[in-house]
Amino acid sequence: MFTSPLNGAEIRKDFPIFSKTMRGGGRLVYLDSGATSQKPNSVLDGERYFYENHNAAVHRGSHLLAEEANEAYEGARAIVAHFLGANLDEIIFTKSATEGLNLLAYSFGNSASTSRFALNPGDRIVLSEMEHHANLIPWQQLAKRCGAEIVWFPVDPDGRLDLSAMNDIISERTKIVALTHQSNVLGTINPLDQLISRTHEVGAVFVLDACQSAPHFAIDVKSLGPDFLVFSGHKALGPTGIGVLWGRAELLEEMEPFLTGGSMIESVTMTDATWASAPRKFEAGVPNMAGAVGLGIALQYLLNVGMNNVEAHEHALTQYALTKFADLERVRIIGPTDTKMRGSVLSFEIDGVHPHDAGQVLDQHGIAVRTGHHCAWPLMRKLGIVGTTRASFYIYNDEKDVDALIDGILATQKYFKV
Ligand code: ALA
Repeated sequence: MFTSPLNGAEIRKDFPIFSKTMRGGGRLVYLDSGATSQKPNSVLDGERYFYENHNAAVHRGSHLLAEEANEAYEGARAIVAHFLGANLDEIIFTKSATEGLNLLAYSFGNSASTSRFALNPGDRIVLSEMEHHANLIPWQQLAKRCGAEIVWFPVDPDGRLDLSAMNDIISERTKIVALTHQSNVLGTINPLDQLISRTHEVGAVFVLDACQSAPHFAIDVKSLGPDFLVFSGHKALGPTGIGVLWGRAELLEEMEPFLTGGSMIESVTMTDATWASAPRKFEAGVPNMAGAVGLGIALQYLLNVGMNNVEAHEHALTQYALTKFADLERVRIIGPTDTKMRGSVLSFEIDGVHPHDAGQVLDQHGIAVRTGHHCAWPLMRKLGIVGTTRASFYIYNDEKDVDALIDGILATQKYFKV
């Protein structure tokens, strides 16, 4: 039984890619939104409309187009701020979530020794075994530059963070805690309340990787309580090449810039420069204006659907899929097998079939899934596997997509005679 406030088939009508005919002559069963989401017409048209009607370099010109481009770009910032429950000046447009995390790591690394962000030998950066490489490698590199130490939360056999040693892992030596909200492999949603409260107890800052959460359920940064948050536009119905970094205003004000150059300055001499206030300080160069506009339209689309409806729909799909998977033989879910504190990312292994082979057979049926290590090598090592096959759901999926996946898995087992 599948009930949801949303109708995936109706929503697909807004997304032109779903009229494509796939290999085998069937329709597209797109189960790879964890990697990137599809784009509605309003986003595609909105980017084109910007270029056709308002294109100019923002924050520079005094002509009509520059004024309109400013309005469009800053209007997009206002939508992002509303989407996150943040203040306008706390929203920084980046090219990706990855860039947002690198921005933080380089900015902290550039801090004066007296700054609260300065890291010294022996200071700790706390991560977890379920981090995507984007929320792992920038911190590893920062630790190497500063002589800091990386410590991490292990993942337990159910695919949850093992918090039993939380107070030792987040200690008085901790300066940064950087964790994912929802694992891109396991679907696990992490219990942020206790983690954030412990982080603040020791005077550290909490960085939240919201790539797999912000597009899928409502987030209010003020009540959630992190200090920084990143997400990428392309996973939230928006264009590629645009991401968001949110930070608390008082922290952004204290931070050093990452990229320097045009538009991020207050004044410049031949030998020195001072910085504009946030967010300008962190947006050097002519930004991705059309991308920001497209992202604003995408987030507005999600707000119109209603983030609670998005969440309920994905919850129903996940519940439906978990029930169907339970009836499959020789198929193992990697991650929580119930919907408690779990999102709509479903990784699995088919006994005797390499994930890449499974992906190819599913592709023959028009089913797009992601296969491999999912940019989470340490997690794969911990789980003792080479990779998984991963289905991830979004608003344009429905129970028929799950049925197609189940049929595709049975066809895969038949093909490989396992
Ligand atoms: N980070 C994206 C994923 O998990 C690309 O697939």
